[in-house]
Amino acid sequence: MSFKYQAFPGMEDILPGEVEKWQWVEEKARSLFSAKRFREIRTPLLEPTELFSRAIGETTDIVHKEMYTFQDRGERYMTLRPEMTASVARAVAEHGLLKTSPNLALFYIGPMFRAERPQAGRKRQFHQIGAELVNVPDRDPSQGAQGGDLTILLLINAFLRSVGISRLKFRINDLSLINGENGAQVRARIRDYFESHKAKLDPDSLYRLDKNVLRIFDSKVPGTKALADALPWNDVAPPSGHFLELIGKLSDAGMTVEQDPKLVRGLDYYTGVVFEAASASLGAQDALAGGGRYDRLYAEIGAPSVPCTGFSIGMERLLMVLEKNTPSLTEQMKDCRVYLIPIGEGPGSPEAAYLEEAALSLRGLGFLPEMAKPSLKLGDQLKRAAKAEVRYVVMAGEKELREGLYQVKNMDLNEQKEVKRGELFYHLTQQQGKTLV
Ligand code: HAM
Repeated sequence: MSFKYQAFPGMEDILPGEVEKWQWVEEKARSLFSAKRFREIRTPLLEPTELFSRAIGETTDIVHKEMYTFQDRGERYMTLRPEMTASVARAVAEHGLLKTSPNLALFYIGPMFRAERPQAGRKRQFHQIGAELVNVPDRDPSQGAQGGDLTILLLINAFLRSVGISRLKFRINDLSLINGENGAQVRARIRDYFESHKAKLDPDSLYRLDKNVLRIFDSKVPGTKALADALPWNDVAPPSGHFLELIGKLSDAGMTVEQDPKLVRGLDYYTGVVFEAASASLGAQDALAGGGRYDRLYAEIGAPSVPCTGFSIGMERLLMVLEKNTPSLTEQMKDCRVYLIPIGEGPGSPEAAYLEEAALSLRGLGFLPEMAKPSLKLGDQLKRAAKAEVRYVVMAGEKELREGLYQVKNMDLNEQKEVKRGELFYHLTQQQGKTLV
């Protein structure tokens, strides 16, 4: 009889062997964001449904079609979070975090839920790494010349580069034109345009024409897409000098940036610069990350209004890109994978304890140490290490323990060195020729 239980489609187990890749990426994010003074926040997976419908917008696909919503035993409507920006805003407001700090730089890593049709790069339970700058306007004197938008775009670029992604393209748009102070006029011009081509619109887009004209740009229907492509943007919403200046600064920083007036993003809360990062290796689901400025979300959920910007990166898509990347993920991870072999009497031996202590400090420093299985011969252990694709093997026997040393073998160079107990981390990072961050 076959086993009858399976994970729900689009909700996947992350098994040993795979999970190390997740840990590697998460560690890179934690190190970089902490170095840039972003602090981690964690919020519940379940929130009141109304938080998301207010923050993200009733007419968005996420709220309209994709939320996992149910009534709990107290008949309250609850939703599994489809994203984190609304939850972070709720938490900041609920705990009055802005009373003790004028602005906040926060990051998060965790699962999100959207009832989409599962396919490669599109899951029902997926994971995001994200960051939010709270109460940081676009042009902020306290950040020097660098406003929040530039800070957040440089951060996402720095992170994606730190995990080795190089062929990145950013699409960017300025929604302050259509969602800002004069937005009503601009939206009216967009509505007039689609109204005059009403006969060519699909039924979903006709509904959006009445309810929220910008959502027409989300349409995947070819006829509607062609209409959206043909909209004369320079007449309807010409870019501001400030926006063009931002694009210039991003290009100066070496980023590939393409201005895309149709980029409206699938969430209603955006009010300013929005962006998506894409990678050539993702195919149809090519948005690796997205984000932008949202200056009215806090007011929308009944909190004091503060200007904010942020981004979220999809972990599954990031890992898909990394698998096809050069250098490959396995190659990159080699640098922080360490295999530890006690040359002694098995699990309870003083040598094993000595190496377990080293493994513990290496893990704290961002390495991924793995203790060798006891009871194998040294030759077999080294064969295993070669198979596990690790760059370094750390060994200790009775002599090393007595003298406070390790034998460190670089598997690629087939070189072995004696390293003093306090210098293991220094030695491993020196060999890489770089620090781990
Ligand atoms: P989003 O564009 O909805 O933005 O999602 C960000 C990223 O999450 C996407 O680019 C994609 O990589 C990943 N993602 C979204 N849906 C799925 C899915 N079903 N399966 C796999 N990956 C997915 C947000 O969520 C905003 N909270 C971003 C933001 C932060 N804006 C301001 N601050």
